[in-house]
Amino acid sequence: MTAPLLQINQLAKTFHLESYQIHAVRDFTVDIWQGECLAIVGESGSGKSTVANMILGVYPPTSGQISFKGAPLGARRTKSQRRAVQLVQQNPFSSINPSRRIGATLKLPLNVHDIGTKGERMARVEELLGEVGLPADYAARAPSTLSGGQCQRVAIARALASQPEMVVLDEPTSALDVLVQARVLILLNELRKKRDLTYVFITHDLAVVRNMADRVAVMKDGQLVELKPTHEIFDNPEHDYTRSLISASPVITEEEREMRNRLREGLAMEAVQ
Ligand SMILES: Nc1ncnc2c1ncn2[C@@H]1O[C@H](COP(=O)(O)OP(=O)(O)OP(=O)(O)O)[C@@H](O)[C@H]1O
Ligand SMILES: [Mg+2]
Repeated sequence: MTAPLLQINQLAKTFHLESYQIHAVRDFTVDIWQGECLAIVGESGSGKSTVANMILGVYPPTSGQISFKGAPLGARRTKSQRRAVQLVQQNPFSSINPSRRIGATLKLPLNVHDIGTKGERMARVEELLGEVGLPADYAARAPSTLSGGQCQRVAIARALASQPEMVVLDEPTSALDVLVQARVLILLNELRKKRDLTYVFITHDLAVVRNMADRVAVMKDGQLVELKPTHEIFDNPEHDYTRSLISASPVITEEEREMRNRLREGLAMEAVQ
């Protein structure tokens, strides 16, 4: 059997505030396999984004290790390690620099990671826009002229620009309305297949989990309480907390039905939202 792409071993993060400490993540261990989509779910404050931030190297773990392809992902990462793992955040309007045109936003990671020659980079930007279903002339536009869905597509293109192997998606569609959300999810599914990507997909939304994830990690109070293939989580939730999470989410809401239909119809490359 091949080794996991990302290994997270007994990861912990404690934030020290003035008069108290927050144990945001405790003893979190999981192996993530090449090509899979692992969802991380859990209520607000359960430590999901803290795990994401440690994977990305935004801040160091208090204890524990993360390794990528067998090599430790420490505080000082190699260029290829930084390139290999990328992030898509919840709010595209705050993660994209409003004063930069879309083309410049997408060129930046190409410059940083020395991808293509200077002359090739504009063509690469246009290719990236095409990959996320946006017209090439959007390169000249300012972020303020884009819808939320379009802006999130730009954030996805920016994450893909460095040709990552893994993308951490932290609530990537929760700021979007349902139809736009479905289209972005279809796009993410297609990109995963096409580029053989591995996803860590953080979400509150169990409907999204059902449609996207191969396995689900459930977090509560900073700890991993259940880790299983997606269908088993729904068919046979073991932990009380997982049961309450599932029962709090309607089995199939109208929104989920709509989203499922859209996912099945494969609307991704249709009209740009
Ligand atoms: N930079 C920080 N400084 C201090 N405390 C923090 C910091 N980041 C997160 N925390 C705390 O750590 C805990 C876990 O936060 P985290 O953002 O990881 O939760 P989450 O599961 O992503 O929640 P949400 O679903 O609301 O995004 C919370 O109690 C939060 O207040
Ligand atoms: Mg979060």
